[in-house]
Amino acid sequence: MGSILITGGAGFIGSHTCVVLLNAGYNLIIIDNFSNSSPSVISSIAKLAKLEDKITEARLQLVKGDIRDKELVTQIFEIAKRKGTRIIAVIHFAGLKSVHESIQKPLLYWDVNTSGTRKLLEVMNEFSCKVLVFSSSATVYGDPCVIPIDETSPINPINPYGKTKAAVEMLLADISNCQQRTKPFQKSPTDWRIAILRYFNPVGAHPSGEIGEDPKGIPNNLFPLINQVAEGKRDLLHIFGNDWPTIDGTGVRDYIHVMDLAEGHKAALEKLLRSEPQLLTLNLGSGKGHSVLELIHCFEEVTGKKISYQIANRRAGDSAISIASPKLALKYLNWSTQKSLKDICDDGWNWQSKNIYKNKF
Ligand code: NAD
Ligand code: WQD
Repeated sequence: MGSILITGGAGFIGSHTCVVLLNAGYNLIIIDNFSNSSPSVISSIAKLAKLEDKITEARLQLVKGDIRDKELVTQIFEIAKRKGTRIIAVIHFAGLKSVHESIQKPLLYWDVNTSGTRKLLEVMNEFSCKVLVFSSSATVYGDPCVIPIDETSPINPINPYGKTKAAVEMLLADISNCQQRTKPFQKSPTDWRIAILRYFNPVGAHPSGEIGEDPKGIPNNLFPLINQVAEGKRDLLHIFGNDWPTIDGTGVRDYIHVMDLAEGHKAALEKLLRSEPQLLTLNLGSGKGHSVLELIHCFEEVTGKKISYQIANRRAGDSAISIASPKLALKYLNWSTQKSLKDICDDGWNWQSKNIYKNKF
């Protein structure tokens, strides 16, 4: 049986997707340099997938390394082929994701997100592995003109992070369009099967509390910050503006439970594996918007924790509302979100509170 290479499989979205894929019977190879995750996540993935010790090696392999190390990535493909577990598809999560950091370190972001992806694609091409699911982001839309945002909305990234995602999307479109000459003057259609998934705001955690989002340093995103206020790690949350043209003046986002997102990756992978060569570009979101205050109130209700906050100035680069049109993902993948905002708060806090326990002892 073939295997699936998961780049960045120890990260937030990657780890949840690994659990879903292992439970569905796939054999996985993870490559991760742990720049934003911990090796301990691997044993949590194995535990959640109920892998027996003796078969873990066959079902789940870990390679500690960097996707920019082309020699290493080539070796991974070679060894898998030699062992009879050829890599048949790649789900490419590995990358850097902080908008703020990307403004400070544009060269690093272009190197990891864009050059790293190009090198990975070169190796895939060499081994004729042409099935790819790529992690893109709603960030590529910039400040959207029309809500809900569908996949035909203009691509207009406004920060280096978003630009690296848009650049990879363009590269993937070129690969998908390229025709290969089999004989002189004879062209065959491209054989790449690619899904570009544009995630909206991924949050929550596995219901077991065994894996979740574990940001290194100070988080940039709202949900981990709410969790840290609830935990007592910070005194209060700054709400970036209460004068937006929204229901209560605070920013509105499409929050998607990470387990729904993981199921979306499985659906995309399976669609590609059974379909003709194609390029699919799909939003993964719920189609519902919630304001910052709505999220805080839901969190307080579900967890019984008080979230103190202070209204601050608007954050540069923010938009009032970002909500996905999830219609195309339903049409092509037969996928839609199943979890509610309450599930998000419940599972997200369960993970955070278990982590406090782990840190204490
Ligand atoms: P994450 O940081 O938790 O996971 C990324 C993983 O990739 C980490 O384990 C990290 O150690 C690893 N990694 C980073 N650079 C690497 C490299 N050069 N070589 C090998 N491994 C490397 O992030 P996430 O939230 O799980 O995001 C996964 C992907 O989804 C990213 O590409 C991100 O840009 C994209 N995305 C995330 C969000 C979000 O809000 N979480 C939204 C849209 C898109
Ligand atoms: C959500 C809402 C803030 C923090 C980002 C990236 C995007 C994607 C997802 C990777 C907004 C408000 C936030 C705080 C606040 N990631 N907020 N106080 O900005 O929608 O999207 O993460 O691809 O690329 O840009 O998410 O969680 O930062 O903000 O009031 O301390 O919470 O203004 O309305 P965002 P977020």
